[in-house]
Amino acid sequence: MSGHNVWTHKGTFLLAAVGSAVGLGNLWRFPYLTGENGGGAFILIYALTIFAVGIPIFIAETMLGRTSRQSPIMGMRHLTKTHKTSRAWESIGWLGAAAAFLILSFYSVIAGWALHYTWLMLTGSLVGADATTISAGFDALLASPGLMTLYHTLFIAFSALIVGLGIHKGIESGLRIMMPALFAILIVVLIYGVINGDVGAAANFLFTFNIADLSLEGWLQAMGQSFFTLSLGMGAIMAYGAYMSSEASLTRTAIAVAFVDTAIAMVAGLAIFSLVFGAGLETDQGPGLMFVTLPLAFADMPFGALVGGVFFILVLGAAISSSISLIEPVAAFLVERFDMTRPQAVTIMVVAAWAMGLLTVVSFNVWAEGTIFHALFERSAFEFIELLTNIFMPLGGLMIALFAGWALTQSEVMKELGTNITWFKTWRLLVRFVGPAAVSFVFLRTIPQVEGYVVPTLGALLIVGVFALSQRLRKSA
Ligand code: PFF
Repeated sequence: MSGHNVWTHKGTFLLAAVGSAVGLGNLWRFPYLTGENGGGAFILIYALTIFAVGIPIFIAETMLGRTSRQSPIMGMRHLTKTHKTSRAWESIGWLGAAAAFLILSFYSVIAGWALHYTWLMLTGSLVGADATTISAGFDALLASPGLMTLYHTLFIAFSALIVGLGIHKGIESGLRIMMPALFAILIVVLIYGVINGDVGAAANFLFTFNIADLSLEGWLQAMGQSFFTLSLGMGAIMAYGAYMSSEASLTRTAIAVAFVDTAIAMVAGLAIFSLVFGAGLETDQGPGLMFVTLPLAFADMPFGALVGGVFFILVLGAAISSSISLIEPVAAFLVERFDMTRPQAVTIMVVAAWAMGLLTVVSFNVWAEGTIFHALFERSAFEFIELLTNIFMPLGGLMIALFAGWALTQSEVMKELGTNITWFKTWRLLVRFVGPAAVSFVFLRTIPQVEGYVVPTLGALLIVGVFALSQRLRKSA
């Protein structure tokens, strides 16, 4: 498409993609999942999936954005026409938009908790507090719909402001300040952890690979986490890819993003567990690891209020650079399709996601039980929304891999990949078979907990169907 925006600098895509990838997934979710799933063994599977499945799909998703130079929905429509494939593939764009909308709705609420803790830390409210006081404080936050709504509103409004300013003035300059600051702060927290915590115990916990520690469930969670952490399958990377310079290498960029994202998760894990072990706390705290256990560690340390405040600012920065990548694909679609101005498009997306987020807010208090979601799905509205995104995410990744590997005209794919034949063939093998097989496995194994055997059977049929369709639509290379 002519006249489409391109990032000002060749390297900005890398910055933006790293901003999207590094977020609550690295700093909050990765450490607690690792803590719950036996440390090193979890990390091993996570890292293997990132490199064998995540990177090839990341390349595919960026490629779809860059060749179409449009938002995910319009871009997929364009590609189905130019590559003469079924319009059904357009569903990749719609699925991504739906997932981005749903993730934004709860991501903003959780990020709001970080805002609360930034405030508590910087005002010194938790200095010297004991475990009971801190966990009661967390419970009190969850019990207050008003407070949670306030933080949720502030967080989402700030994200909207950045995207509303446009990709150059808003996203690019925001990231250029935020990302380096983020790295610097993380290093400060790590150094602090090394000096005051127990880095030896943390390293031992994170890097001792004992595969027997890992349950099948943990194995699946490790694969799921590698998708979430790279922002795959949701259109975010495709939307950013649309602004990517034609000269930048897809492969090198994908490897760089995966490398930085993994490194940040590891450093965060090392810093967090150094503090946790140093303070003699438990590793398997679950989602409370960051919001309960860490403030407890900070409460007990010299200069803990300052280091804790700085740490939660880091969490906020990482969450904002991810949430803007959730707004962008939908906002860009509204601009392209309905000729809206950018601020109008962003407002529509954000107001809708904000309202949806209220469902997550009340899931922790007034609607914690006895709602229609509990009656129908045996879970709260928040857990239901999270479940939906857990289905959409691998499904989107699977379809992107199949579309890029089978449906696209392979000679053009090779041109985009701009690389040698050996790597092209390896990549194609990965997206045609390895990625889809791994994703189907995760997908089928996540769902049985919900609906017995009906849903996995339907899922298997769906996957076989998509696969058969892609075979039929296959073009010769
Ligand atoms: N990758 C982000 C994280 O690890 O926190 C979460 C995320 C952002 C997922 C953007 C999906 C997305 F499109």
